[in-house]
Amino acid sequence: MREIARVQQGYFPTQDRIVRIIAGRFKIPLNQQGQIVVLDAGCGTGHAIQNLSNQWLIQQPELNATLLGIESDKHRYEQAAALLARSKGGGTALWSAIEDATVDQPVSLLWFNPPYDRIRGTGRIETALFNRVKEWPARGSGLLLLIVPDYVLADAEVGLAVAVERDYEMLGLWRYPEPEYHDFKQCVLLARRREKALNKTLMTFPRWASESSKWPMLRDDMKPVATLTPVQKSVTLRRTRLGNDLIVDAVTRSPLRSGLLREAAAPAPPIGRPLLPLKHGHLALALAGGLCDGIIESEGNRFLIKGTLTSAVRRVSTKPQVDDSGNTVAEIDTYRTRYEMNVRCLRNDGSIENYSSAEPDELETEVTNE
Ligand SMILES: C[S@@+](CC[C@H](N)C(=O)[O-])C[C@H]1O[C@@H](n2cnc3c(N)ncnc32)[C@H](O)[C@@H]1O
Repeated sequence: MREIARVQQGYFPTQDRIVRIIAGRFKIPLNQQGQIVVLDAGCGTGHAIQNLSNQWLIQQPELNATLLGIESDKHRYEQAAALLARSKGGGTALWSAIEDATVDQPVSLLWFNPPYDRIRGTGRIETALFNRVKEWPARGSGLLLLIVPDYVLADAEVGLAVAVERDYEMLGLWRYPEPEYHDFKQCVLLARRREKALNKTLMTFPRWASESSKWPMLRDDMKPVATLTPVQKSVTLRRTRLGNDLIVDAVTRSPLRSGLLREAAAPAPPIGRPLLPLKHGHLALALAGGLCDGIIESEGNRFLIKGTLTSAVRRVSTKPQVDDSGNTVAEIDTYRTRYEMNVRCLRNDGSIENYSSAEPDELETEVTNE
């Protein structure tokens, strides 16, 4: 595809010629036990790794390579799923953001040509995504093929080179040849995952990453530098989270769709008369829940109201105690705890009115706020 067309679509797959040259940097095992699993995180249409494995198959027709891809763009994912499933060793794609996906077993080769961008306030997306995928190749043998702009890798502030060095041993680093280099200034890094990551606190900017102008250019006639190592267990791609795209897509295709849409688009129901007459208890609950605070309007006037619910111990009755001769010897008071509703209302003119369910003369005894 011509450069201009690729740029217009905002999709920048690895060019076929570059994939062919990269394919020659790998030693392919003979008498393979197990399978070579290649995972492209951000696989686009899946064409790059399919092309890669086709190049290897020319050299080694017995090669057993499984091709896996993760892609967030639905249209490209569908193309990748179809293409990878047709590859000789079989394959599959997962429709997901890299951030929401993982693998259940290590892979032989991670192909990683991430989107190039800044993330507002937190650095570059290449580093953030690399940190998500860096542990997917097998320890000690799994390979990383990274394609990024050289100015991103050579920039110590970005933190990508240090992140790579910490987990990987460098096998080769090349700039793209012309004319491909001209447009995006990309480079290709090939590395093998370390058995154990280096101590983070001792890390400094790696020497191999400085002075990108001195990095060799990728050429057709270079020798292989990395050995592909089969893995013994098959690898499954898994989602760790459901992204919004996926949820919207599932709802769109669901038989519940029209009901959900109707409900989402329906106007809020009018507040009608309650089914049963309101009793004191209803109002008490509303007051206790703070639902009776705020500004209300009535006949063009506005009032600020504040409702409270209080409990108070009230005397409810007084009965005389009489002896055998019928003389009153004492008075017995009966007290009960009563809940009392109070609403204070501030008018525009600054006057305050109090409304209370308490009897005016019931002001003796202890009162506590609820
Ligand atoms: C530069 S293209 C590389 C395509 C392919 N790997 C290749 O080398 O030709 C990057 C791809 O990653 C996809 N992508 C970007 N961000 C992603 C993310 N967070 N999760 C999954 N895929 C993503 C894009 O839709 C695009 O198809």
